[in-house]
Amino acid sequence: MTYSIVYSSRTGNTRQLAQAIREALPTGECLYFGSPDAQALAAERLYVGFWTDKGSCDEDTRAFLEKLEGKDVFLFGTAGFGGAPEYFQRLLDRVRQALPGGNRVTGAFMCQGRMPASVRERYERMLQSPEHKLQAEKMIENFDQALNHPDEDDLQRLKQAVSAVHAQP
Ligand SMILES: Cc1cc2nc3c(=O)[nH]c(=O)nc-3n(C[C@H](O)[C@H](O)[C@H](O)COP(=O)(O)O)c2cc1C
Repeated sequence: MTYSIVYSSRTGNTRQLAQAIREALPTGECLYFGSPDAQALAAERLYVGFWTDKGSCDEDTRAFLEKLEGKDVFLFGTAGFGGAPEYFQRLLDRVRQALPGGNRVTGAFMCQGRMPASVRERYERMLQSPEHKLQAEKMIENFDQALNHPDEDDLQRLKQAVSAVHAQP
């Protein structure tokens, strides 16, 4: 079955996931690999990747999802905050809402993605303020945890998930 891999990535994390999907699926069936574009719509199955922006998918991905009709869609994404699986679930629920009815979500995957050093510097400045210190410490802990992601385990789990979905009729 033909498929396209469409992804939006500002700092490369989601691109890594897109690349892993490409490696996991049969090359001959891939019609499009790249940023959101109408060319991708020729495929029956779409693997759509986003980076998390202000609690939902980035705007380019949202605009693309809103155009889809009658597609099988596998959503994948990265987010800076990764401590709780419920957080990923809430994000995915929000992203799904951008998809018009008549499309089918066949699967979804999210993992944490590293953030730029400037973000840590901002948290470090927050440490100076007694009222924000505790929160800043938690953010720094999360930031440091994100630095390793996406890691090999994330990529393998994603590859397994898409291979299982792609094998279905
Ligand atoms: C402007 C901006 C807003 C962000 N908002 C969120 C957010 O609301 N929640 C979150 O978990 N991560 C947020 N992040 C972190 C990114 O989603 C995360 O680093 C992601 O892996 C980036 O993916 P990319 O490398 O594919 O661009 C934000 C990053 C930026 C630059």
